[in-house]
Amino acid sequence: MQHGGNVWRAAQAYGVPKERILDFSANINPLGPSPKAMAALQAALADIKHYPEPQAETLRRLIANITGVPESMLILGNGAAELIYALAGVIKPRRVVLPVPAFSEYAAAFAAFAQLEVVLPPEQNFCLDVGQLLRLLQPGDLLILANPNNPTGGLIEPTELAQLVWGTGRAGAWLLVDEAFMDFVRPSRTLLPEVSGHPWLMILRSLTKFFAMPGLRLGYLAAAPYIIKQLTDCLPPWRVNLPAQAAGLASLQDTDYIETTLKLIHRQRDWLAAGLAALPGLRPLPAAANYILVDCRAGGLTAGQIQAHLGPAGILIRNCDNFRGLDSYYFRVAVRSQEENRILLHHLQTIITG
Ligand SMILES: Cc1ncc(COP(=O)(O)O)c(C=O)c1O
Repeated sequence: MQHGGNVWRAAQAYGVPKERILDFSANINPLGPSPKAMAALQAALADIKHYPEPQAETLRRLIANITGVPESMLILGNGAAELIYALAGVIKPRRVVLPVPAFSEYAAAFAAFAQLEVVLPPEQNFCLDVGQLLRLLQPGDLLILANPNNPTGGLIEPTELAQLVWGTGRAGAWLLVDEAFMDFVRPSRTLLPEVSGHPWLMILRSLTKFFAMPGLRLGYLAAAPYIIKQLTDCLPPWRVNLPAQAAGLASLQDTDYIETTLKLIHRQRDWLAAGLAALPGLRPLPAAANYILVDCRAGGLTAGQIQAHLGPAGILIRNCDNFRGLDSYYFRVAVRSQEENRILLHHLQTIITG
């Protein structure tokens, strides 16, 4: 499967009812949506006979208040993915510079443009070499990075982020930083406050992961006002539907849910990583968000073989063999509840110890 999280296809393939599937393949908050978002969704159903606000203006204002980014520098999208594709039509880069492994939709969205892939070194846990990257850049290039990165889970150091912002500007290049998973990071390393002073910098955010609503679709981009204007002109109005706007407003204001999520993820991530490291032949990589990339080479089984054992038990993991820059000995698991993580570790142990 191209992406994780296809429970529909997995249910068919493994003959397990969708409701019984434990999905570690998509990086979604295991708490599910905020209860306040669910209540807002219920209430919003009565209003679907009306058009939503064309540019999700109320939600955009709330995001401006929370982030400090002016409204003129924000655009909402039907998921962050929509905005990646729309950007390709607006930026029209001379070349896209793509450190890999990375989220596969960057290459797909910019398929019409020249691309330079920079393979990150596995022996250094796929860390960026900022100096090397900056030396590659030419005027008109677009450098795309995710922070934290997906699927590696790596986080870029603040000093390196500063070098990247400064260095891309000096090279006359664009910098798109995908912060789809930044809400899971405390203290945050978001570059949102930097967007105002750096017109070549664009920040992408998603609400589908932290706020557990991938089926509803919601994301936003912060960028220079003229880019936002061009994106707004080329995208249809009403693209963020009315229930998604209502759920977004409620989610972002549900501070109890945000705090509970952070506590759960941070505690469970450490617990799951320790459990994985204790299994022979598995090496979890350092993880900054709500998922862990696991190197299973030393155990001798491929990720595909492990996936094939877990599937019939209704447990989905992300086989990472289709990520550029990875091979068949990597899989990724989302951090879920203690009980679910325990079940995953138990099944992995059975497979590995035969
Ligand atoms: C790094 C990254 N960016 C963006 C997206 C797309 O997010 P959305 O669901 O908001 O379209 C994903 C989805 O998996 C992702 O992993």
